[in-house]
Amino acid sequence: MGDRLANKVALVTGGGGGIGEATAQLFCEEGARVAVVDIETDAAQRVVHAIDPTGERSLAIGAGLHEEPEAERAVRETVERFGRLDVLANIAGVRVWGAITEATPESWQFILGVNLLAVAYCSKYAVPQMVRGGGGSIINVSSANAVSGRSGMAQYDATKAAVLGLTRSMACDHASEHIRVNAVCPGPTLTMYHVRRRAAARGISLEQAQAEMRAAGAPNTLLGRQAKPREIAYSILFLACDESSYVTGATFMIDGGLSV
Ligand SMILES: NC(=O)c1ccc[n+]([C@@H]2O[C@H](COP(=O)([O-])OP(=O)(O)OC[C@H]3O[C@@H](n4cnc5c(N)ncnc54)[C@H](O)[C@@H]3O)[C@@H](O)[C@H]2O)c1
Repeated sequence: MGDRLANKVALVTGGGGGIGEATAQLFCEEGARVAVVDIETDAAQRVVHAIDPTGERSLAIGAGLHEEPEAERAVRETVERFGRLDVLANIAGVRVWGAITEATPESWQFILGVNLLAVAYCSKYAVPQMVRGGGGSIINVSSANAVSGRSGMAQYDATKAAVLGLTRSMACDHASEHIRVNAVCPGPTLTMYHVRRRAAARGISLEQAQAEMRAAGAPNTLLGRQAKPREIAYSILFLACDESSYVTGATFMIDGGLSV
């Protein structure tokens, strides 16, 4: 338990699992009041019960953030409950596998909606609240594959590269309002959702997906392993709190050396 986010209010998107859950937990441990927002309402509620059993410092919000009115509602309900908003961690994300020859207008709309537009929509409504409170910090979760190429996830990687561009321009637009905007690029991170969804997308079992990843030598990082979600969450915490007061427009590679 610490106080690095004492008196701060944070909204964590995609907080229902994986990196988002680890971030919500760490934020709560460091004294923040936290809104856990996820399209899967049950998952958001489960996380809130786990990180803050009394429910005094947390709030679960079910919202599909790829729709602008839902993003507006998530920010509004957070501010209605806690009175302010200091930190926005844009972590919600989805994956689509395959080359662009397999992409469809629907798959583009799906992945752009969550991975890029939800970041923009949540930020759009968070910024005025942060301005009202004298400033804030926005952390956008991109991916190590936003800066290094690979086969098989072109649409995903394109959206994550777009998030880096958005981050830099938002940092320029809102610096004078005392809002810092930074990006975190995780490398392969062991979240159950990640492996489960990979298996579902390929029509194979969870065990098969895990065995295939091991057989393929994954993950290809210098550290020779996947990250734990909490290892990514620590970088998000740093960017959220005042220790990073001179950091804006930055891209943090938290990827076990994958991108070098
Ligand atoms: N896990 C990895 O290896 C890895 C690597 C690089 C980047 N990332 C990025 O980190 C972030 C978190 O990934 P993860 O693997 O921890 O978790 P994840 O795949 O479980 O996704 C995070 C959460 O986003 C929620 N979500 C999906 N669509 C949503 C929507 N429209 N509105 C609101 N919530 C929505 C999901 O329900 C889920 O709980 C994602 O942006 C992902 O792209 C993950």
